[in-house]
Amino acid sequence: MAEKSEVRAETVTMDTLVSLTKRRGFIFPSSEIYGGLASAWDYGPMGVELKKRIQEFWWREMTQLNDNIVGLDAAIMMHPRVWEASGHVENFTDPLIDCKNCKHRFRADQIPEENIKAHTCPDCGANQLTEARKFNLMFTTHMGPVEDEGGLIYLRPETAQGIYVNFKNVLQTGRVKIPFGIAQVGKAFRNEITTKNFIFRTCEFEQMEMQFFIHPSEDVKWFEHWKEKRLQYYIDLGIRPEKLRFHQHGPDELAHYAKLAFDIQYEFPFGWKELEGIHNRTDYDLKRHTEYSGKDLSYLDEQSHERYIPYIIETSAGLTRTVLVVLADAYDEEMVEGEKRVVLRFHPRIAPTTVGVFPLVKKDGLSEIARKLSDELCEEFRTFYDESGAIGRRYRRQDEVGTPFCVTVDYQTKDDQTVTIRSRDSMEQIRVQMAEIAPTIRKAIKDYKRVPGGASGGTQG
Ligand code: GAP
Repeated sequence: MAEKSEVRAETVTMDTLVSLTKRRGFIFPSSEIYGGLASAWDYGPMGVELKKRIQEFWWREMTQLNDNIVGLDAAIMMHPRVWEASGHVENFTDPLIDCKNCKHRFRADQIPEENIKAHTCPDCGANQLTEARKFNLMFTTHMGPVEDEGGLIYLRPETAQGIYVNFKNVLQTGRVKIPFGIAQVGKAFRNEITTKNFIFRTCEFEQMEMQFFIHPSEDVKWFEHWKEKRLQYYIDLGIRPEKLRFHQHGPDELAHYAKLAFDIQYEFPFGWKELEGIHNRTDYDLKRHTEYSGKDLSYLDEQSHERYIPYIIETSAGLTRTVLVVLADAYDEEMVEGEKRVVLRFHPRIAPTTVGVFPLVKKDGLSEIARKLSDELCEEFRTFYDESGAIGRRYRRQDEVGTPFCVTVDYQTKDDQTVTIRSRDSMEQIRVQMAEIAPTIRKAIKDYKRVPGGASGGTQG
């Protein structure tokens, strides 16, 4: 009999996500056996798959579907002059206030005005707050054997600069003409003071950035183009559209390099927050690098013979932050026949495992058939073979890690070579010939639609 779904929960709390993702091998506190390190997290077997799928989907969207966007993977450690030219040494700061009594440190914008005026610490109550001081967010380290100023380098706080300093290299070798883009995924580091909300804001994180080089007269057109494209990307990733919105930066929010900026925000359990920034960086970066390096970074249009410094429209997404969005958005609970069912409704194209393969029981040759099937399916899909425990429990485990399809080999398989395919979302099962499993799953992935309330079209139709 088909399982019956009765009630579902609307929202998820961060505590629920932290505990589920630890229990199911998505995300662990870093160095946990030593008590952990604040704001650092490790991605476990499920988490690393999910992160890779999101990254692959972004990379495909950028470099495969746009023949005028090419990829790059620049070093994290760069010449220190890069960060002087970029303006980060001077401007990439947060105003911070310390309490001399309890030693707590706060971002000035996160303490009530009256506390600042009275110098009263919001934590310990002592009237010992310092004045606000600028604190640079870049991590520093030293390269080479001597720890002096000469060897001082920074861990990059954004991946973008690796793209700008390679502008000429790509232009000369990439067979590209303006308008064109350079895409890059990689780690970035910021010495963030307020790190809470799990992986939302961490000191070490990953970005997926694309810098689109254009003629200055076309900035409005291309800004609009990328704004719409990037919103659609998250919808295609399976995020519910009603949880996404734009937020335009006011004059006091704009980064030092931006003329115009919109965030794509997501409604996290702790409110609407930035997920991606789309910036019109004008010719700021290429001009500054021309000035600081003494190298000409202008572009010559071979048709019009015009020489100019291109403008840049940047799309800057947080990869690790997107993992949080995907988890929060996918989380669902419902009561099924009196028992709570927890299910992660990932879009099948980014689910860590695509197909679970089970023998109904371990005996009578069913394991052998299922094992062989799993070995075949894993050529095309990420597959997980499981023969331990009751079949209902095995389905529930896969629901909790968001596996969209489960294939079960039973006694009927031995007679007619058919198996069942169970859909994670609807819990419905259909019977298909073994030869039809791959085409059925392929089609279900392509046609997938998350239906409001949870259940989806599944494997039918
Ligand atoms: N290159 C432009 C740039 O870095 P940003 O708005 O500072 O712009 C872009 O960052 C994205 O990087 C953010 O929307 C967010 O998704 C991610 N991000 C920034 N700081 C982060 C942090 N401390 N932890 C996790 N993700 C972060």
